[in-house]
Amino acid sequence: MSAKLDPSHIMQTATAFWGSKVLLTAVEFDLFSVLGDRAMTAEQLGETLKLHPRGTYDFFDALVALKLLERAGDGPQGRYKNTSETAAFLNKKSPMYIGGMPEMLNSRLFGFWNNLGTALKTGEPQNEVKLHGKSIFEELYANEAKLGEFLEAMTGFQAENFHQLAVKFDFSKYKTVSDIGGALALLSRLVGARHEHLTFHTFDLPPVARHAQKQIDAAGMTERIEVVSGDFFADELPKASVVTMGNVLHDWNLEKKKILIKKAYDALPDDGAFIAIENLIDDARRENAFGLLMSLNMLIEVGDAFDYTGADFREWCSEVGFKSFEIIPLAGPASAAVAYK
Ligand SMILES: C[S@@+](CC[C@H](N)C(=O)[O-])C[C@H]1O[C@@H](n2cnc3c(N)ncnc32)[C@H](O)[C@@H]1O
Repeated sequence: MSAKLDPSHIMQTATAFWGSKVLLTAVEFDLFSVLGDRAMTAEQLGETLKLHPRGTYDFFDALVALKLLERAGDGPQGRYKNTSETAAFLNKKSPMYIGGMPEMLNSRLFGFWNNLGTALKTGEPQNEVKLHGKSIFEELYANEAKLGEFLEAMTGFQAENFHQLAVKFDFSKYKTVSDIGGALALLSRLVGARHEHLTFHTFDLPPVARHAQKQIDAAGMTERIEVVSGDFFADELPKASVVTMGNVLHDWNLEKKKILIKKAYDALPDDGAFIAIENLIDDARRENAFGLLMSLNMLIEVGDAFDYTGADFREWCSEVGFKSFEIIPLAGPASAAVAYK
């Protein structure tokens, strides 16, 4: 083998699903909540989780090596505890819990991604739609447990992005926000907590309303956030000086993306702003691996839906009349694409 060539990047990527599945299984077992703020030996933790002894040390030590657990001491006396990140984000008792997304990755997407090859050859979705023929949202929303899981997953995914949007976008000039496809009203709750002058409509399909209302009431924001139920293809969007869509445009094909952009335009006053919060792909389509993988995920989930670049957003928004544009980087691979009317 050439001394200059190093295959380790290839092998790390090829085996990346091993580490991923170890984390997803730990979330499935609720290991991080079981540990809470305790330190436990492998035997204690293995017994609590009802694991066979063969795998316990490998499983827990792999999590240590992956920096998803800490261990004080070695061997049978070694005691495992959460890292500060797993304590904050993967313990169900923490208000910052983001395990919803790993739970859904484990229960749905890990299996569906096994059929990526078929998706690439056929352009067809590889999820529940393949089995039952219903659209992704019809399928998820027909099942209360799956609906809950999906809504929680969205929450974990976008919380930090919405925090950063609240900090980085100048909301001072605006009074009202319509968050379209608002799910559990997370954007309204987080942006509203920082900008007390704003009021919100959080718009989503009727089965979501009850779940969103519960979160809004718990946040004490009932007076400022109105839940509006509807179908964004059949109904008009609630008018506001800012229209936001978090991970909504990427759910649809180009024709439907353009319908939603036109509806956002029509819901805004002359000085309004439209903001899409997504894992925007870099214009040269070389850098944002996560955005590109997310687009493949949309192939698995929907078929003709796809993620897009800032240049794509600008082109589609210009077509309906938006005049100027801005990209605001948010957490990690996500950005806010802003179009001003
Ligand atoms: C991928 S989720 C994004 C949720 C949230 N905005 C976020 O950023 O996490 C897409 C949302 O669009 C909603 N949705 C899908 N089809 C819809 C429709 N026809 N009318 C209204 N909302 C819809 C879904 O219920 C879901 O909450």
